Amino acid sequence: MNELKDIFTSYWNYLPLAKACKWNVFDSILEGFHTEELVAQKMGWELNATSHFLSTLEYLSVLHKVDNKYRLTEKGMVLTESHPKSLKYACILWSEEHLNSWQNMETTLKTGQPSFESLYGHKFFDYISSDKDKLKIYHKAIAEYARDDYEKIADLIDLSPYGVIMDLGGGIGELLHHIRIKFPSKRLILFDRKEVLEISRYSDIEVLEGNFFSDIPRVADCIFLSRVLHDWNDQDAKRILHNVNICLPEKGSLIIVENSIDQENLPATLNLNMQIMTGSHERTEKEFRNLLEESSFTISEIYSLNSLLKILLCQKK
Ligand SMILES: C[S@@+](CC[C@H](N)C(=O)[O-])C[C@H]1O[C@@H](n2cnc3c(N)ncnc32)[C@H](O)[C@@H]1O
Repeated sequence: MNELKDIFTSYWNYLPLAKACKWNVFDSILEGFHTEELVAQKMGWELNATSHFLSTLEYLSVLHKVDNKYRLTEKGMVLTESHPKSLKYACILWSEEHLNSWQNMETTLKTGQPSFESLYGHKFFDYISSDKDKLKIYHKAIAEYARDDYEKIADLIDLSPYGVIMDLGGGIGELLHHIRIKFPSKRLILFDRKEVLEISRYSDIEVLEGNFFSDIPRVADCIFLSRVLHDWNDQDAKRILHNVNICLPEKGSLIIVENSIDQENLPATLNLNMQIMTGSHERTEKEFRNLLEESSFTISEIYSLNSLLKILLCQKK
């Protein structure tokens, strides 16, 4: 029963962390705003409420208080902007449009359509592209989530035979950045929407703006689709795969990186989240095989990155 009661108030734990990240509280404490008075002054907050907020962060083990001064714990450091393994934006991500969409999940349950779209009036990627701050939070967050896995990809798969590698829907270039470290002189192309390319931070990666539903240029013999297909239902995913198939040369490869696992082991909340946000779901290995078969690809190898994330190496049929 206590386990149930803890679930009821789990947002009491998450939201103070997310808000503290959003308002740069951990960064400010790192800079020396370490007493309740200094934090209240810096933020323009009421002192008693600030005290409860900071005690909550201490209860959550991200701060500790010694001699009336708050310090960051090791966990708290990870929520600062400058930490090399920072999870600041990954923490913020779920407190904004995601949280509002989950609050409105009955729309999804009644219609099967994303409650995000009924709430915000646009498809997810169109909506965040219209606001640079939202776009930056989203892309920094998903790059933080993938960083440790993307570090491993170039060691796990032999990418040396390929002349040109293009990452379709590659976001701000986190994956290609790690491939660049292993292949300093290979031609690497980041393909995404114009607004996303504008906030990409890697100057040693070529960028190509476009729409993978219409115009994928025939320039690469290796194409990555990483955490892209799970945003789309089968009909849209087939349209993307069809375009990839057309633009790849005969011996070219498609490399898909996605959450994929037997359905019984998949955290069910992942599927509910995708349905609420984009009207799609994570696919099992069997669902991927069917989808790829219908799109004229065969899977030649499957690699595991972690318990959920898999790499499917595919060839044109
Ligand atoms: C979930 S993100 C994955 C980003 C990146 N592959 C990664 O793993 O970090 C999906 C990406 O697809 C891009 N995208 C969405 N619709 C697109 C379209 N029609 N054409 C090209 N890119 C698109 C988004 O801008 C976003 O960068």
